[in-house]
Amino acid sequence: MGFYLLSLSQFLSSILFLFHFQTTISSSNYSSPSHSCAHDQSLSLLQFKASFSINSSASGYCQHPKTESWKEGTDCCLWDGVTCEMKTGVVTGLNLACSLLYGTLHSNSTLFSLRHLRELDLSDNDFISSHISPQFGQLSNLTHLRLNFSRFAGQVPSEISLLSKLVSLDLSENDNPSLEPISFDKLAQNLTQLRELGLSMVHMSLVAPDSLMNLSSSLSTLILTSCGLQGKFPSSFRKFKHLQHLNLKFNNLTGSIPYEFGQLNELVSIDLCFNAYLRVEPNSFDKIVQNLTKLRELRLGYVNMDLVIPNSLANLSSSLSILALWGCGLQGKFPGDIFLLPNLQVLDLTYNDRLTGSFPSSNASNGLRSLALSSTRISVDLENDFFTNLKLLEVLVLKDSNILRSNLTLIGHLTQLIRLDLACNKLGGQIPSSLKALASNSKLTGEIPSSICKLKFLLVLDLSNNSFGGFVPQCLGNFSNSLSHLNLGMNNLQGTIFSKFPKGNNLVYLNLNGNELEGKIPSSIINCANLEILDLGNNKIEDTFPYFLETLPELHVLVLRSNKLQGFVNGPTTNDPFPKLRIFDISSNNLSGPFPTEYFYSLAALMAYDQNTVYMESIYATSPYSIRVTWKGFETEFEKIQSALGILDFSNNNFTGEIPKLIGKLNGLRQLNLSHNSLRGQIPLSLGKLFNLESLDLSSNLLTGRIPQQLAFITFLAVLNLSHNQLEGAIPSGKQFNTFNASSFEGNLGLCGFPLPKDCNSSKAPTLQPSNFHDGDDLTFFGDGFGWKPVAIGYGCGFVFGVTGGYVVFRARKPAWFLRLVEDKWNLKARRTKKNARRNGVRRN
Ligand SMILES: *[C@@H]1O[C@H](CO)[C@@H](O)[C@H](O)[C@H]1NC(C)=O
Ligand SMILES: *[C@@H]1O[C@H](CO)[C@@H](O)[C@H](O)[C@H]1NC(C)=O
Ligand SMILES: *[C@@H]1O[C@H](CO)[C@@H](O)[C@H](O)[C@H]1NC(C)=O
Ligand SMILES: *[C@@H]1O[C@H](CO)[C@@H](O)[C@H](O)[C@H]1NC(C)=O
Ligand SMILES: *[C@@H]1O[C@H](CO)[C@@H](O)[C@H](O)[C@H]1NC(C)=O
Ligand SMILES: *[C@@H]1O[C@H](CO)[C@@H](O)[C@H](O)[C@H]1NC(C)=O
Ligand SMILES: *[C@@H]1O[C@H](CO)[C@@H](O)[C@H](O)[C@H]1NC(C)=O
Ligand SMILES: *[C@@H]1O[C@H](CO)[C@@H](O)[C@H](O)[C@H]1NC(C)=O
Ligand SMILES: *[C@@H]1O[C@H](CO)[C@@H](O)[C@H](O)[C@H]1NC(C)=O
Ligand SMILES: *[C@@H]1O[C@H](CO)[C@@H](O)[C@H](O)[C@H]1NC(C)=O
Ligand SMILES: *[C@@H]1O[C@H](CO)[C@@H](O)[C@H](O)[C@H]1NC(C)=O
Ligand SMILES: *[C@@H]1O[C@H](CO)[C@@H](O)[C@H](O)[C@H]1NC(C)=O
Repeated sequence: MGFYLLSLSQFLSSILFLFHFQTTISSSNYSSPSHSCAHDQSLSLLQFKASFSINSSASGYCQHPKTESWKEGTDCCLWDGVTCEMKTGVVTGLNLACSLLYGTLHSNSTLFSLRHLRELDLSDNDFISSHISPQFGQLSNLTHLRLNFSRFAGQVPSEISLLSKLVSLDLSENDNPSLEPISFDKLAQNLTQLRELGLSMVHMSLVAPDSLMNLSSSLSTLILTSCGLQGKFPSSFRKFKHLQHLNLKFNNLTGSIPYEFGQLNELVSIDLCFNAYLRVEPNSFDKIVQNLTKLRELRLGYVNMDLVIPNSLANLSSSLSILALWGCGLQGKFPGDIFLLPNLQVLDLTYNDRLTGSFPSSNASNGLRSLALSSTRISVDLENDFFTNLKLLEVLVLKDSNILRSNLTLIGHLTQLIRLDLACNKLGGQIPSSLKALASNSKLTGEIPSSICKLKFLLVLDLSNNSFGGFVPQCLGNFSNSLSHLNLGMNNLQGTIFSKFPKGNNLVYLNLNGNELEGKIPSSIINCANLEILDLGNNKIEDTFPYFLETLPELHVLVLRSNKLQGFVNGPTTNDPFPKLRIFDISSNNLSGPFPTEYFYSLAALMAYDQNTVYMESIYATSPYSIRVTWKGFETEFEKIQSALGILDFSNNNFTGEIPKLIGKLNGLRQLNLSHNSLRGQIPLSLGKLFNLESLDLSSNLLTGRIPQQLAFITFLAVLNLSHNQLEGAIPSGKQFNTFNASSFEGNLGLCGFPLPKDCNSSKAPTLQPSNFHDGDDLTFFGDGFGWKPVAIGYGCGFVFGVTGGYVVFRARKPAWFLRLVEDKWNLKARRTKKNARRNGVRRN
């Protein structure tokens, strides 16, 4: 949910900015045709153009290849993105945002000879880690400088402080540039006209939070998301009388929000989320908010408010439209009247598990668009008038919450919903006995009614971890053109899988794990060309191996564990089977016959070890993709899937034959489980090349021969099970092998040496010298580094740090584009359109 909010605000603020930018430009009629461009200016622009290529992946937000209209011999003042001064024909404005520019911006660029520039926007291009040139300091008349989201890197040069006329400066969201305290101080001191400052993701951990107070008192916008700021929250912001937008999200600020905040009565939006050591003092909250009469957006996610009385929220400004107080430790009774704030559109109180209260039973018209109360104890009656009147509601997230009454048929009337998440409740199963007598067909209440298919705009539907029974409405396969995320896992659903997946559908994630579904896997699934995750595990599907899934171009995860699949797996039926598959789990079925070696010639994605750790996209923050697999011996649900997570689980079938040597090519494997089959022959030496392997289980087969020494090369190997085979000889020793206990090897009569009690009386197995091993400075899966820790949780319910995923995604170093995984529907649509366009080879607008 945090992400949804983030993006909504970004969306809103970008509109504001855009509006601002456009009004400033159009007010002066720069590109009046009566004045032609000065020759040297034209030349400089053309040379600038020539130094970049146009690359369709260079711009993420929008795409306007403006330099394409730049032609020699034409008036440069008429070129896209160029504005000139009327009298002299010199270039005073250059707006090349989203221009698909790709290349290095060198210090000798002719851009820096355009000395008359006042406004320069190079945002959303790809300058492939160019340093921000000190030459920018030469453009001394600049009032607006936007270099955001363009992959600049290195140190921000102190020469920026020469631009003393700057009114607006944005260096946000680049490739981790850094800003030294001395440069910051100069900048703060000299840019006295500054009104808008954006330095998100500029690394400035050495800058003392108090020096923010040195910035110009004209500031109206200060955006410092994820800057590594640490220390005490600035003691007073009083100086910034004009401050309207303040964003200090994702820093490490401590202390409490000062009382004087209440004097900044121009404030429109505040975002201090993810400052875990920051707190709001109990008695200052109402005083602070009392004066903030213009406040529209207040986001304090994970700021500690455990002593603030929820009732004081009633004093928030009536202009409030967004209130996000998730994970704030709020406790007590929530004032239901807050829902009557006339402008409230977004309310997120997720993860305040001691927060109680209820809704007004009013049917007053209400503009609420997004409501998230997951993991709170606020009682929700989805059948009362208040809810049925939320006609504008687009997002309803009530995962693991306190739902008193619900009737999905009624929810079907909320036709604007794009996300409906009712996971982890007790829906479906329990009919209050008082109602049982009334309801003629009591079974019906336990079913998912087909009226849910009225929600034509749904992108995300999550009804997992409930007690829904009965048949799945067939319409679920094709009711919404936009549906991308469908999770009905962990219910008691029966019957067959709905079979009508139409061509061109947008399904990305389909999870039906843990139901009673029977029949075959519908072949129309091949119409789901965007499908990335398919989890049909733990059902009663009776089928042969579904070869047709091989052709799904985007499939990353296939889980078919614990079903009744049977017959041989004869290897691929297409040239490039499962091109992107990384998690392949067909364990616990009745599959048999020779081990499907041929698949190991392909499985390209599993062969590549992806150092960059691209995370799979999640659509909306608190309920990202999740799948259930056995991880290191436990059935585990992953809330977010690291693309580097490679799992092959063919265990508990009856595969015969040998383990192919080729398996050593699957570099990306983290977990390999072939246990409980009828595999023969030796353990291939090539397994030792799987240096990312963390878990290896070959137990309960018919394997013979020695354990290859090479296995001791696998530095990360934490789980090893070779028990119940027919292995012999000495157990290798060395680093990892010294950590395994006897159970890893038991049931092999011929094995000897540590940790088994049986000595190898003959020559000892050679000890491996660890010194020349790859010691893995790459990320360990459960490591502590900056890397993401997968949130492994029991059954996907309870207090889940869905936001943790969001945190890391935001903090991740690479790729810059990924950081733009903003999850609102506008973006989702844009991305889709682009993706589809690329596929069809056409570009739509
Ligand atoms: C760059 O910053 C401006 C405001 O400073 C904003 O309007 C624009 O959306 C940003 N561009 C991107 C791609 O984030
Ligand atoms: C811009 O040009 C239009 C007509 O082309 C004119 O009506 C308007 O007054 C001009 N604005 C300025 C600020 O010069
Ligand atoms: C286009 O940009 C992408 C990264 O954004 C890069 O990988 C690719 O090589 C570029 N293509 C060309 C032709 O430069
Ligand atoms: C600009 O500098 C770069 C790197 O120093 C160099 O490769 C390039 O040739 C220079 N271009 C011109 C026009 O001097
Ligand atoms: C900078 O702006 C000032 C004041 O508008 C003007 O006099 C001067 O010529 C400008 N300098 C350049 C290089 O355009
Ligand atoms: C401040 O800006 C002026 C030009 O306006 C410049 O001369 C001076 O060197 C700058 N100071 C710093 C510390 O950058
Ligand atoms: C900036 O603020 C700090 C307090 O953090 C102060 O010590 C310093 O003198 C200020 N620098 C300038 C140039 O005003
Ligand atoms: C703030 O963050 C840094 C690392 O980002 C950490 O070392 C430090 O302990 C944190 N401070 C507090 C008070 O948590
Ligand atoms: C709110 O405004 C009043 C009147 O301007 C002022 O006296 C009071 O101190 C302000 N409250 C806070 C918390 O700053
Ligand atoms: C709201 O503010 C008033 C002062 O204007 C105060 O008396 C009242 O207690 C506050 N209400 C709550 C619920 O905090
Ligand atoms: C749910 O609402 C529908 C439509 O109002 C109604 O027909 C149905 O009986 C309700 N179901 C229950 C169990 O109350
Ligand atoms: C496994 O397959 C082999 C050979 O096909 C067969 O002899 C054996 O009975 C099967 N085992 C099980 C448990 O089905």
